[in-house]
Amino acid sequence: MTDQDREQQELLQKEAQFWDLQEDKIDSLYARPHDWRFIPKLAEIIIRPRVNTLLRLLKTHKDRIKSLVDIGCGNGWLCHATAKRGIYSIGIDLSEKKIATAKRMAREQGIEHMCEFVAGDVMQWRPKEKVDLLTSHGSLHHFPAFAVALDHMVQNHMKPDGFMLFVEPNHEGMAPAVAQFLLKCAKNKWLKPHFDLDFYLEVTGQPALEVPPPAAHAAANEMNVRNESPAGKEFFGEHLDLDLFFRTHFEVIERHFYHYFSSHGTNAFYVFMKSRVLRFLWRLALPCMVWRDTRLLRDPKYQQYAEDGLWFMRRKLPTAP
Ligand SMILES: C[S@@+](CC[C@H](N)C(=O)[O-])C[C@H]1O[C@@H](n2cnc3c(N)ncnc32)[C@H](O)[C@@H]1O
Repeated sequence: MTDQDREQQELLQKEAQFWDLQEDKIDSLYARPHDWRFIPKLAEIIIRPRVNTLLRLLKTHKDRIKSLVDIGCGNGWLCHATAKRGIYSIGIDLSEKKIATAKRMAREQGIEHMCEFVAGDVMQWRPKEKVDLLTSHGSLHHFPAFAVALDHMVQNHMKPDGFMLFVEPNHEGMAPAVAQFLLKCAKNKWLKPHFDLDFYLEVTGQPALEVPPPAAHAAANEMNVRNESPAGKEFFGEHLDLDLFFRTHFEVIERHFYHYFSSHGTNAFYVFMKSRVLRFLWRLALPCMVWRDTRLLRDPKYQQYAEDGLWFMRRKLPTAP
């Protein structure tokens, strides 16, 4: 085994440990959220547009999509949703704990016969038969050798005329305009009392707010499940322009961008807001904000700052000589 292989194996072990730890802590994360993803009622509102798109795409292509592999399936929510719609769904994930949860949830929902879950490294695994659709919801960016990994999965897991449906982070951090707006709010004499800036910095270390987190804190956070995972950390910076990557390598049938202001704004205002009244008002206003984001993000000048992107793709057809 080469040094590189050993390093790779260690990274995978850390990655699996990280996601096992997250699964262990999932209840306490919900109990003290700092992030909209851990507040189910808000998460539902914020991700509704992308779930609607996912379901519409699956419905439109239902004659062509009968089976799928979900890369890094986590607790299996996507497989559960697709299995219920008659698609045989295979989820694979490094975290044994997440796979145990996925299996339990499938049993609870009576859909075990329509899905299967495998604990392990997707790169070391082969399906019995290639599938019609490859999906990843927030998992591809946890593969450090992303391009190699994706090529491997497309070659080995997907039928030649299959589809890919990926939802991945599109931009790290917030758009400068959003960061400036939040900073202004945090300094505003009326809003300041409601904005827990210290906590905000503690959990996010947002350099955009001009106060860097103390170095000691960053080091202590190494295995903090609120952080980016060990392998995910390697991804950001190097491969961030996923949109360009996908458009270069595949035929993009549809692409959509999500969250310009709604998700960062929610973290800044809702979670860190001390006033219950303001939190309540934010919740009421959120559907409008999501709607506004969705409209804004049709414009390419905002797309580069969208927090998440969705790409529905297939292989490029060979061009005639
Ligand atoms: C951000 S989570 C997303 C989970 C899920 N798709 C969701 O939407 O909740 C990324 C997942 O990718 C998994 N993962 C990372 N590298 C992997 C690998 N090489 N093989 C299988 N799963 C992997 C992790 O264990 C983790 O559960």
